[in-house]
Amino acid sequence: MTVVIRQVSEDDILLELGDTSVIVQSRCPHRGGRLRFGVVNERRMTITCPLHHSTFDLRSGNQLSGPPCGSLRVRVAEDLTQQE
Ligand code: FES
Repeated sequence: MTVVIRQVSEDDILLELGDTSVIVQSRCPHRGGRLRFGVVNERRMTITCPLHHSTFDLRSGNQLSGPPCGSLRVRVAEDLTQQE
């Protein structure tokens, strides 16, 4: 599966993982690493920050590893459409 990451606003990126699209905050909650350059594991549905390698669950936003920094703001793309 090919993962596509696009910057959709100053604050958000869109991750397209096959049938699933997820909107994620563009900056890591640790020290602002740019997650559009992160590493995505589509099987595990995780993204790893390029700076200090915090890993986050793309379904819940929960931090799974790395320097403690709280969770990531995530939502499925359909939620964004319903808000407009
Ligand atoms: S900025 Fe992302 S882990 Fe440090």
